Amino acid sequence: MCGIVAYLGKKNALEFLIEGLKILEYRGYDSAGIAVLNENSSNYNLEKSAGKLVNLINLVENKDIKGHLGIGHTRWATHGVANNANAHPHISNDNKIILVHNGIINNYLELKRKLKEEHNINFYSDTDSEVIANLISVYFKECASIKTAVIRAKEEIKGSYALCVISPEDPDKIILTSKEAPLIIGLGEDDELYCASDSSALLKYCKQMIRLKDYEVAELKKGGKFEILDANNNLVKQPNIQILDHDPLHLDKQGYKHYLLKEIYEQAAILRKLFETHFNKDLNITFPNLNTKIFEGINKILIIACGSAYYAGLAGKTFIESLANIQVDIEFASEFITKKNLLVDDKTLLIAVSQSGETADTLSAIKLALKKNVRLIAINNRPESTLASLSKDSCIFTQAGVEVSVAATKSFLAQMFCFFCLALYLAEIKSPEKKEALKKIKLQLHLQPQIIEQILARAEVYKQKILPFAEKKAFIFLGRGINYITALEGALKLKEITYIQATAYPAGEMKHGPIATLDHDVPVISILTNGDVYDKTVHNVMEAKTRGAPNIAILNDGNDELDKEIDVILRVPVNYEEESEFYDLLSPFVGVVPFQLIAYYLAEYMGKDIDQPRNLAKSVTVE
Ligand code: G6P
Repeated sequence: MCGIVAYLGKKNALEFLIEGLKILEYRGYDSAGIAVLNENSSNYNLEKSAGKLVNLINLVENKDIKGHLGIGHTRWATHGVANNANAHPHISNDNKIILVHNGIINNYLELKRKLKEEHNINFYSDTDSEVIANLISVYFKECASIKTAVIRAKEEIKGSYALCVISPEDPDKIILTSKEAPLIIGLGEDDELYCASDSSALLKYCKQMIRLKDYEVAELKKGGKFEILDANNNLVKQPNIQILDHDPLHLDKQGYKHYLLKEIYEQAAILRKLFETHFNKDLNITFPNLNTKIFEGINKILIIACGSAYYAGLAGKTFIESLANIQVDIEFASEFITKKNLLVDDKTLLIAVSQSGETADTLSAIKLALKKNVRLIAINNRPESTLASLSKDSCIFTQAGVEVSVAATKSFLAQMFCFFCLALYLAEIKSPEKKEALKKIKLQLHLQPQIIEQILARAEVYKQKILPFAEKKAFIFLGRGINYITALEGALKLKEITYIQATAYPAGEMKHGPIATLDHDVPVISILTNGDVYDKTVHNVMEAKTRGAPNIAILNDGNDELDKEIDVILRVPVNYEEESEFYDLLSPFVGVVPFQLIAYYLAEYMGKDIDQPRNLAKSVTVE
């Protein structure tokens, strides 16, 4: 989704603006722009272009753009189509205020009308952002200080915003403000100040950062000086400086053709790291950033999330219910916020799951639930995110590193792993007598990374088996029980990166409607790994086969009884010992990996934009 970068220092600003925007490309966008103030004059360069960043780069390449202060933006269209006029930065009618904006201003039509009627202002775009530029310029005229003008404008605007404001009239300052949209000040070397809406843009340049809180206003000045005012416009004396410690290697493809493939291959190492974090040598479970008192006296668990994180939440529900025998509810965050009656209170444990920690629906749902005094745990990948700051003593970090490709892969597996640890922990608290039996499962959990590596070694085999299906119009994914969740995530991956219609059903539900859609052009992909639900799922697969649907299935090594029935078999190693009671709970850890790979290879064959699929955004910061 939209991305902001800004620079104020001794170097040419354009360099960082373009580099920063390149890093933010992964968030998904459809136009881009920059503005640079020229030194010692009130001249400026403002360039923007619809489409990919390369269009903007071509535009600025042959121009002599020089200046030590600038702002940049990638836009994901909300108000107004993706064209040059709607791209940011936006400039006021009098050319005195230039800004970039993330978020949505709810009362922009009312402000627009007022600005037109009372100040004769014309508008050249369909955006809410251009309205704010003009609103600030009206106040700037009266008070001659950009900071004061921004403070006055923020009292009037309703909605969410991260704003970066500059003026050719005062070319040594950048003013920032934010509400419900992330904005970070990066402290660089040699008195350089940076700003970005996503810390990944700052990794190469800064070791320290400050996250703006809601309604704060910051003034960045020459010489590395800055000042932050709180929501009441009082000076913040000791801003909270955080360390930026992501590994910059996450922003490098390291020889892989796409980030998505690289991230799939990182999964085994991430699960190993998580195992080391959460299990000591006696296999006792620990949560370094979680005060476990939070579990005392809870009478309800509710999971909220969006997208793949929601599916990881579904797996979490199954793990906790099966292992700890505690009922768990789960809601899409975007649905939770529509409820007339939120059935939560101070005995509810709310588990919010989010890779980015910035998804607007998830954050809104949390804020609503917190008003009802719920206890919050976050399963989160970004320690510097808004979600992490909302859930200070109660985070389980997925430690997957920056996930660049828009479609979630490594974060999904890491989220499931964290849920598994949580389920084991709750099971031990509730039934200490089960500790020995649970130890067996822990040992099997420990084996998952090496089994994932064995699956990755078969990638080429999966590729050759799936490519003949590249022309199919739709796919149906089937699974029962825990494998239904694998089916959901498999279908989502295929949809996201190939744009082929793919739907997942609990296998038993297929005959209640979806079976009508089957023909030779709609392959059915099912998960037939060993386990309690194997036999029943086989019946459903046969029902599809007799309707002429090509069938593809994931089966364990050693199971050859369906060799004649299934058209294409994708084999995975057995990842559990069958004698343990809950052995098949671990199956999504391996079932989902072949699905990630087949989606990738189909998309690559079809020439799709794998890391930045059309219309999608990595972190969806609008509701
Ligand atoms: C977007 C992404 C998905 C992700 C979802 C939730 O739709 O494209 O990959 O699963 O948001 O994001 P979150 O950061 O909250 O996990």
